[in-house]
Amino acid sequence: MSASSSEKGLGLSMVLFGVAIVVIVVIKTAVGALTSPPPADMSDAAVAERIAPVGQMNTGEPIAAAAPAPAASGSTAPRSGEEIYNTVCMACHANGVAGAPKFGDAEQWAPRIAKGIDGLMHSALNGLNAMPARGTCANCSDDELKAAIEFMVSKSGGESAAAPAAAEAPAAAPAPAAEPAPVAAVEAPAAEAAAGRSGDAIYHAACFVCHATGAAGAPLFGNAEQWAPRIAKGMDGLMHSALNGLNAMPPRGTCADCTDAELQGAIQYMVDNSK
Ligand code: HEC
Ligand code: HEC
Repeated sequence: MSASSSEKGLGLSMVLFGVAIVVIVVIKTAVGALTSPPPADMSDAAVAERIAPVGQMNTGEPIAAAAPAPAASGSTAPRSGEEIYNTVCMACHANGVAGAPKFGDAEQWAPRIAKGIDGLMHSALNGLNAMPARGTCANCSDDELKAAIEFMVSKSGGESAAAPAAAEAPAAAPAPAAEPAPVAAVEAPAAEAAAGRSGDAIYHAACFVCHATGAAGAPLFGNAEQWAPRIAKGMDGLMHSALNGLNAMPPRGTCADCTDAELQGAIQYMVDNSK
């Protein structure tokens, strides 16, 4: 009787002890979860950082409309004048194609610079003879165009003070009521120097500058009538023209770093889309 009673008591205290441990563990875990800092990768900052690109992509804001802060990096910041020049304007201005004032040539730029930044902006926005409106850069903001002009001017004998660095666009005063030169909506130039780029990529990085608008008499992308006599020359004939240049068509279409295969891919891309 007494033995079984003490056994019972022992059994009961073991059960209570067990319950107590379980309760303590549960409480400790709960309290710990509430009070100790969460693991680093779950912190608000880390989570915000991880989802940030998605959140930004979904804002629907035009990328170029980002604040005019001169942030050095990041695809949302306005591109620098040098960047715009190197991806767009250099197609004509590097070699003076079609009579474009040549980059770095102070003599050729002097009479242009004399017009002042407002005059130059007016020409760049509206086009001037063989200079197409916006220099073919349909997706350049006014500020980006202005920066590109300032970059060329500063490297071509002009004072870098030709325009105040504070990029507050004085909105091209002369009303651009007449929009000449219909610039075809053009994809942003993907200037990625990866190996074996597609014809599509080369076209949009280099050739579109002239072939999307027919600038300087270039056969227009998608225009079967203009391309038919070209296509009749056969790929070898076209490659010969593209490699060596032909009248206003510059050698390699200004794509100095294009391989022959990449050039041929770009020609094929244009031909395929212009039949
Ligand atoms: C398809 C060729 C071509 C491209 C691309 C091009 N330009 Fe030009 N640009 C010209 C030609 C040609 C002229 C000379 C026009 C004239 O005076 O008859 C010129 C002249 C200019 C002038 C001087 C205008 C003036 O009033 O004297 C500016 C400024 C200019 N370009 C800016 C740009 C900028 C900025 C870009 C790039 C965003 C660009 N250009 C891209 C062909 C081009
Ligand atoms: C600066 C302007 C410009 C750029 C950039 C340009 N082209 Fe051209 N392209 C021309 C002009 C102008 C012609 C017409 C030449 C003529 O027949 O007088 C032409 C013609 C051609 C032709 C037809 C040649 C023929 O024999 O009839 C091919 C092919 C061609 N371009 C390929 C390219 C490729 C590929 C690129 C890009 C890698 C490119 N072009 C970039 C201006 C340009």
